[in-house]
Amino acid sequence: MPIKYLGSKRRLVDVIGAMFTATGGGRALDLFTGTTRVAQELKRRGGHVTAVDRARYAAVFAESAIATAAERIDLETLDGELAALDALPPRDGYVTDVFCRQARYFRPENGARIDAIREAIEARRDHPHFPVLLTSLIEAADRVDSTTGVQMAYLKQWAPRAHQALALRRPDLLPGPGTAVRADACALVASGELGAFDFAYLDPPYNQHRYEANYHVWETIVAWDAPVHYGVACKRDELRDRSATSVFNRRRLMPDALARCIEGVDATVTVLSYNDESWIALDDLVALCRPRGAVEVLAFDSRRYVGALIGVHDRNGRRVGTPNRLRNVEYLVVSGAPAAVEAAAAAVPGTRAAVRP
Ligand SMILES: C[S@@+](CC[C@H](N)C(=O)[O-])C[C@H]1O[C@@H](n2cnc3c(N)ncnc32)[C@H](O)[C@@H]1O
Repeated sequence: MPIKYLGSKRRLVDVIGAMFTATGGGRALDLFTGTTRVAQELKRRGGHVTAVDRARYAAVFAESAIATAAERIDLETLDGELAALDALPPRDGYVTDVFCRQARYFRPENGARIDAIREAIEARRDHPHFPVLLTSLIEAADRVDSTTGVQMAYLKQWAPRAHQALALRRPDLLPGPGTAVRADACALVASGELGAFDFAYLDPPYNQHRYEANYHVWETIVAWDAPVHYGVACKRDELRDRSATSVFNRRRLMPDALARCIEGVDATVTVLSYNDESWIALDDLVALCRPRGAVEVLAFDSRRYVGALIGVHDRNGRRVGTPNRLRNVEYLVVSGAPAAVEAAAAAVPGTRAAVRP
């Protein structure tokens, strides 16, 4: 079960999967993979998937779910390792001190278990189970956290789930090979090293929300480098350096970066996620896709991510406002070879939006 994640395409996974199958499957790219939810669906449908993201934790999820071939893992051994890690005695460390006492993302009893388990996993760094064990730990920590969904603040009163004991479970593993890459999407596309794909899915951030900052606790659990931290959220010191922020989080740079990715990805059909909270207009996005061939825009009315609903409560859980919109529209912009675009659009239930010629 993937972690709680802003922009996770939980509701569109089946739609994107159906498009992939309708266009004949094959080699697939998920260029901003996040939780790997979409990449997993494409792999489940028989695709050879390359999953890319610049966040450390996302690359670990991709190593586990996409690059690990389930048939090569001895599940009994893996489950034994998870049980042994789960049974380790708690041990106070960075997570307990910084994320449970200075900040309050987890109850200290869970934090001390995260410290003990993460330290033990470090000894397995070069083992094929490493990303699987680490994914299991992050997913377990996510189930007992005390946030509204992002790690920029924590609840003043512990969330009810934070009182549950941390419990490791085996993460989803899928048969077959795949590729995980931790990289900046623009640089990777420009390098020409990605290769050619039958199907590419692009789901970049479209506004200022920085994923490494929103999920800095996962970054630190992966890096395991006890970083200097700042602010009440105890964010990694490196996040102060705005020049290292993804171009997709910088209003002036984002349109050009996106244009270069759309232009540079070598794929028969490309599907772009877009929503109406973006810095770029849908018409402009369609114009960027035009040179790829045919373009179809599909609209899906979906409930907003739950974080938008709980964001109207203060840190004591009191209601302090009303969400301005409870529904928003998600778009998929499909472009590429005309027959493939038509097959993709015909396979799914979304409303076809009018596209200016
Ligand atoms: C909207 S989220 C993707 C969500 C994903 N489709 C899912 O269902 O979980 C955008 C992702 O882009 C990643 N990202 C941001 N800037 C990037 C860049 N320059 N290169 C690669 N990945 C980037 C973020 O770390 C984040 O995981």
